[in-house]
Amino acid sequence: MDVEQQKKATTQVFETVADGYDHPSLRFFPFCADFLLQHLKPHSHSKILDVATGTGMFATAAAVSIAPTGRVTGIDLSEAMLAQLHHKASRMRLQNIDTHVMDAEQLEFRNDYFDAVVCSYGLFFMPDMDKALKSWLRVTKPGGTVMFTSFGEDAFQPLMSLFSEQIEKFGVKMAYKPVQLLHNVDTCRNMLENAGAQNVDVTTRQFGYHLRSAEDWWDALWNSGTRGYLDSLSPTDLAAFRRTHLQAVGELATDKGIWLDIQTHITRGHKPGS
Ligand SMILES: C[S@@+](CC[C@H](N)C(=O)[O-])C[C@H]1O[C@@H](n2cnc3c(N)ncnc32)[C@H](O)[C@@H]1O
Repeated sequence: MDVEQQKKATTQVFETVADGYDHPSLRFFPFCADFLLQHLKPHSHSKILDVATGTGMFATAAAVSIAPTGRVTGIDLSEAMLAQLHHKASRMRLQNIDTHVMDAEQLEFRNDYFDAVVCSYGLFFMPDMDKALKSWLRVTKPGGTVMFTSFGEDAFQPLMSLFSEQIEKFGVKMAYKPVQLLHNVDTCRNMLENAGAQNVDVTTRQFGYHLRSAEDWWDALWNSGTRGYLDSLSPTDLAAFRRTHLQAVGELATDKGIWLDIQTHITRGHKPGS
């Protein structure tokens, strides 16, 4: 698959899952967004860019915290994800948020514009992560902050290994590489430094919780990036895979439920200058 096809395929998955993306089984996305806001501590006049904003988990939280003087811009390749952000922003009567369909690897903003550029669980979807990070640094003001999150090695385990082993038996091979690359804290730090940031630090946090049942895990798979793999199965195989997989996942339940590990690395750096 070439780069443009890869981006189209990713966008298509998020167009499909947009309606269900804010599902409670995926509540680690807003948990992480709240943490990022505390970590960033934006001032009230900040201009913040949320890259790969999705349904605006971070963008809406940030817009509330810096209203009315600060402003948030969210960009994403998926119109359907941005439409969800718009519904949310209008329900919350937010007037300091705007959105654009835009590629995170090629930002169309002027140099040195934003006080902070944030990207939560988005960088590993980008075919050229170095190019993306350089583009984010370019639009950040000197002294401003660039921050991104990625999953740690323990995230989703042992559920995701079970998922990949079992779906492979149905002929579906998972493409893990960029997500795995960012499991490593040193890689995260080096990538941001190589893009031109200084004073880079990496913090690791757990945003996990217990799911009530294997069906909750299915909801998480169905409404997120893994949907692409499920949609590649025929209806008969999908039903058979669901049955086998949920049976195996159900066996992992304890009296608390099924642990969903969301070990997350938060990499933060600053653009040189005052
Ligand atoms: C897992 S979601 C994360 C959304 C949001 N940041 C959050 O934490 O809930 C990943 C998002 O990245 C977007 N995305 C993937 N590749 C992109 C690219 N090259 N440019 C812009 N957005 C992209 C997808 O459309 C999707 O909305």
